[in-house]
Amino acid sequence: MCGIVGILGKGPVADKVIEALHRLEYRGYDSSGIASLEAGRLEVCRAEGKLRHLEAKLDRHPLHGDIAIGHTRWATHGKPTERNAHPHATRRVAVVHNGIIENFRELKLELEALGVSFQSETDTEVVAQLVDRALLEGKSPVDAVASVLPRLRGAFALAFLFDGQDDLLIAARRGSPLAIGYGDGEMFLGSDAIALGAFTNRIAYLDEGDWAVLTREGVVMHDEHGAIVQRPVQTVPAGALLVDRGNHRHFMAKEIYEQPEVIGHTFGHYIDLENETMALPDLPFDPRTVKSISITACGTAFYAGAVAEYWFERFARIPVSLDIASEFRYRETPLDPDGVTIVISQSGETADTLASLRYAKECGQKVVAVVNVPTSTIAREADAVLMTLAGPEIGVASTKAFTCQLATLACLAVSLGRTNEHLSREDERRLVRALMETPRLMTEALKLAPEIELLARTLAKARDVLYLGRGTAYPLAMEGALKLKEISYIHAEGYAAGELKHGPIALIDETMPVVVIAPFDRIFEKTVSNMEEVAARGGRIILVTDPKGAEAAPVDAVQKLILPEMPATIGPMVYSIPAQLIAYHTAVIMGTDVDQPRNLAKSVTVE
Ligand code: F6R
Repeated sequence: MCGIVGILGKGPVADKVIEALHRLEYRGYDSSGIASLEAGRLEVCRAEGKLRHLEAKLDRHPLHGDIAIGHTRWATHGKPTERNAHPHATRRVAVVHNGIIENFRELKLELEALGVSFQSETDTEVVAQLVDRALLEGKSPVDAVASVLPRLRGAFALAFLFDGQDDLLIAARRGSPLAIGYGDGEMFLGSDAIALGAFTNRIAYLDEGDWAVLTREGVVMHDEHGAIVQRPVQTVPAGALLVDRGNHRHFMAKEIYEQPEVIGHTFGHYIDLENETMALPDLPFDPRTVKSISITACGTAFYAGAVAEYWFERFARIPVSLDIASEFRYRETPLDPDGVTIVISQSGETADTLASLRYAKECGQKVVAVVNVPTSTIAREADAVLMTLAGPEIGVASTKAFTCQLATLACLAVSLGRTNEHLSREDERRLVRALMETPRLMTEALKLAPEIELLARTLAKARDVLYLGRGTAYPLAMEGALKLKEISYIHAEGYAAGELKHGPIALIDETMPVVVIAPFDRIFEKTVSNMEEVAARGGRIILVTDPKGAEAAPVDAVQKLILPEMPATIGPMVYSIPAQLIAYHTAVIMGTDVDQPRNLAKSVTVE
């Protein structure tokens, strides 16, 4: 959600803090701030809006301290104003925070009764005030933080800087990630390793409940009971930490165009190309005895699960129950202790998905996580991890992570089908060959960009857009609609084409573009009837199909985006490309902030 940075440096660190915050902007960007010690005294600089506003302020009033904490915010409690921006500070302590302090209201009432007055509407400020009071009572900074942490309820990461303490930062993690970076006579703290990529590749991750005391000499880590603990220091490969836009105008464009490559990596990881077999790691369950699979995730990752539902049922003949994680976690659905839950998450930190994972484990289920961030909490807590090898995804709208999730889930479904003998060796070989065509066909699909750019000029004038699909193209229709609304702010909905006449058809008139995702398959005929219903009411159809579909489609009122013919299984991955490009080019024409659309954050670590 928000991004946290802390640096104990050898010289002035404000520029480094800003650099790290830039790398964390994907976590939130509605305000930002920095606190440092200037001649031993706490000073805070904060700004509303993008990080460049903070940079402009720092140009006018530079900070020179060699110790600082910084923050980029995605507002939860309190509007995204300068007053609510982090750090929140008293005269004695400054704090930056990611997550939510659930019991902040009762703590605030308690403090107000003691005469404390609050400057902001945030939950974070109660933390600063509680630590401040403990310091006033004569506690040391370490004891003050240690006494306050048990009083906080919720999921959070915190970093503290203290007046007069130029060799001390304290960090705490409960529910939100924090990485410690080791330098040479310097120490770093960040919400993730990417934030610290420019300074160090030696990283340790705090475990759930840990808190840490950093000095320039190193770090002392404590678990939630206060016992001193060691967490392994990993050397993260340099390339994994450095991300830039390359030649693209936006990260989202770069990530769309990277898909043939990263999909290839992901398949390469799960497929034995020489023998044309699936080569997944050992799983903690036997597919021959599993009676059902639950899949749960949020947003785009949920739609990847919705596509995979078709695959698990078709290839492995295992029934699937599919849930949005924020519903699943509270529905108290009875889960078979011998069953399996699959959670899907790019970040591996999404709060609702993590809570669903924990619920499934409490019910005795084995949990398989499909994640893109190997060091994430979900990856660490799952019984088995299937990595998507998409690389860091910076654009807030998920693109390459989605198609790599699909690639991984397709491999899993085929592998399960083979083990429980619903697929023959020949079926497996045929499916492997089909999957391996994906990168090439994605490259072909990317060639539609100029056509889609033209089409986007019309779409950019629409108020609403409807997306329709059947079979695996149905979840893809929902994903296409989500992509369009989140980055262009045009209202869009995805429907199962067969549902059209049960309600949404009332919306159709000549102002309503309808994107129909329909490869030529055994149910194409049915979708043709739906297109005719739309055309009869003046709707403008954009048909995404293949050469046979283009020929068989009704001619009137149809604009066609034609992809090559391809095996049905890889359709969802390849057809994602036009869906992503439609959203991308429409947003570019509308002039929105494509990589950092309003109100969104890349990693949703709060419910
Ligand atoms: C949309 C998007 C979100 C995420 C959702 C889950 O483009 O990116 O809908 O898919 O917030 O995030 P992860 O996959 O990190 O759990």
